[in-house]
Amino acid sequence: MKTIIEPFRIKSVEPIRMTTREERCLYLKEAGYNLFKIPSERVLIDLLTDSGTGAMSSLQWAGIMRGDESYAGAPSFFRFLHVVQEMTGIEHVLPTHQGRASERILFELLCGPGHEGEGRIVPNNAHFDTTRANIEHHGTKAIDLLTPEGESPSTLAPFKGNMDVGKLEALLAERADDVPVVMVTITSNSNGGQPVSLENLRAVRAVCDKYGKLMFLDACRFAENAWFIKQREPGHEKRDVRDIVRETFDLCDGATVSAKKDGIVNIGGILLIRDEALFEQASNLLILTEGYITYGGLAGRDLEAMAQGFTEVLEEDYLRYRIRSTEYVGERLLAGGVSIVQPPGGHAIYIDAEALCPQIPKHEFPGQAATCAFYEHGGIRSCEIGSVMMGDAARMELIRLAIPRRVYTQSHMDYVIETILEVKEYADTLPGYRIVEEPAALRHFTAAFEPIR
Ligand code: F0G
Repeated sequence: MKTIIEPFRIKSVEPIRMTTREERCLYLKEAGYNLFKIPSERVLIDLLTDSGTGAMSSLQWAGIMRGDESYAGAPSFFRFLHVVQEMTGIEHVLPTHQGRASERILFELLCGPGHEGEGRIVPNNAHFDTTRANIEHHGTKAIDLLTPEGESPSTLAPFKGNMDVGKLEALLAERADDVPVVMVTITSNSNGGQPVSLENLRAVRAVCDKYGKLMFLDACRFAENAWFIKQREPGHEKRDVRDIVRETFDLCDGATVSAKKDGIVNIGGILLIRDEALFEQASNLLILTEGYITYGGLAGRDLEAMAQGFTEVLEEDYLRYRIRSTEYVGERLLAGGVSIVQPPGGHAIYIDAEALCPQIPKHEFPGQAATCAFYEHGGIRSCEIGSVMMGDAARMELIRLAIPRRVYTQSHMDYVIETILEVKEYADTLPGYRIVEEPAALRHFTAAFEPIR
């Protein structure tokens, strides 16, 4: 049998409500043509993010009931600790409320008081916005070192998340003293959910060793990354995905993890640190703002849900279904003539808005126009990743369709595909948008727009 099916059956359901096109036109107008401002009850299929939006399993919900809410040393913490230690081989584990809390603690220690300075740099294959913001908060520069193929949307290559090791070596040869840590993001969200190979991770490790540098992973989607390695990297086809995950973590000095992705929980994060002294300092910062070291800003029940989620995410039937269902959406859109970042990533499909709406110049936001049209036409919420979100720094005008884990069925995805292909038929007549209200920073969340008719 070649058909890959959802490896679960559905025990609990949530209704989603159909709306009419007229209603949606009105809702869009009320929201200032900003999809972040549309109440989620007015969205039919929500592809805004894959973060915290996954469906928990019956065993995770059972864990929620089992959660022990003792302030210190709850058995729920020890179950969580055991699963994370087994999976990563890293002894020192702190729970945090989400990925950016781990980032805040790590970068305060490595770039904060006593270490700040304009001259300092943190390289990454590609920083996610919160990572970049937490680094730049301390006056340190965050730079991206993707390979040329990673920056080219239509180039087909197996590991477009790889770091350009030559550029890293050149940076360290010149500026080693200014680099407190080298980060690698798996998978690389910013350029399309693209994976990083083990070969690349080993090469980054070797350069870090040569210059005596720490190497940390931003490991939100480590399981999806490991599945891509098993599928695409020669010599790893027969390995258990757990071994690949373990080898990945063996290469690093620590990691920040948002459990809202591959932990398949609605809230939670982890900070992993091998070095004893750095871990002690991180524990003190955790207590200052997150909570005691055995709960880190979460409830005991959340730790139970994470422990179970990190177990389930490594099941190969799950990963096969997960990656194949994203790929399916990508294949169908491509077959219908929609340009996307290729090959499809793990957690999302990224549509090229400039190709879809060639009549709309960058400064009139082609991605915004298309996200509004997908909502108006079919009630689908997607996310602009282009000039609205990144201003002049935007290198591409993309629309992200992020796929929540275990939430939507194949017929939901067929509906999404049909909507987008129908919009494509008239996308060259869509109007551009202008911003009519704009906050000082992070404008994509709250700005108001209007169509230029
Ligand atoms: N790193 C990466 C690669 C991410 O994708 C995210 C979140 C974070 C760090 C921060 O984690 O949200 O738990 O604080 N990405 C979400 C997204 C928000 O929609 O891609 P967090």
